[in-house]
Amino acid sequence: MCILTTNNPPSGIVIAIDGPAGAGKSTVAKQLAGRLGFAFLDTGAMYRCVTLAILRSQVDPADEQAVASLAEQLEIMIGDERVTLNGEDVSKEIRTPEVAGAISRVADNIAVRKLLTQLQRTWTQGKQVVTEGRDQGTEVFYDSPCKFYLYASSEERARRRQIELDSRGIEMTFEEVLQQQNRRDAADQARPVGALRKAKDAHEFCTDGLSLESVVEQVESICREKLAASGIALSSGRSPTTNSDGADHG
Ligand code: DC
Repeated sequence: MCILTTNNPPSGIVIAIDGPAGAGKSTVAKQLAGRLGFAFLDTGAMYRCVTLAILRSQVDPADEQAVASLAEQLEIMIGDERVTLNGEDVSKEIRTPEVAGAISRVADNIAVRKLLTQLQRTWTQGKQVVTEGRDQGTEVFYDSPCKFYLYASSEERARRRQIELDSRGIEMTFEEVLQQQNRRDAADQARPVGALRKAKDAHEFCTDGLSLESVVEQVESICREKLAASGIALSSGRSPTTNSDGADHG
């Protein structure tokens, strides 16, 4: 498998954002990346692409080895605006309830996790990236200098998800959305490898009743402070610089 993405500024810093589905991670991570001039990596989209490929194939999702072998052959491209799987734009298909309903088995597959973890590390090497998922601050980028854990109440998250599905013409009742979300939360937290949990050194934000704009503001200001404390200065605009060697890497 290979993963390609667009928007890759140079030099290596990873800001890791984790949390349950619907907590606002994607929106916050994307906006934060834009403000800092960093690339953005949606790791959930990678698990979603593998799941979509399995659903479309004859492979039994319970056959761990077959799932892992299929995953190895995929070409996934996570761009700023679209996600492609073997060259096909699957940005919408990966966000369907069918994919969400089948994803836990793929995310439980240890060989798939190992593969995606390796790709995430390889891809971010030497880059400045805001990444989001479940295990970014705890496992994949455990040494990240800036970690965040975003969460919100189940009801609030399900409400947001229902609005989003509705905007894409997918009709589900609030109860159905909540039930699917509860199942996914339970699976995400129970996973032996890559389980959803807050890293000890992560800043925690409950996004209930907060505008995502205000969360982005707070997260950005913490990032700038923490990176400055580690000797890394960021410009106020889109071009990041480091003062560790006085060079401008923007
Ligand atoms: O963030 P999302 O809802 O698009 O993620 C979909 C699923 O992928 C999520 O239920 C668990 C899995 N996932 C994971 O196991 N590890 C990640 N880093 C990201 C997502």
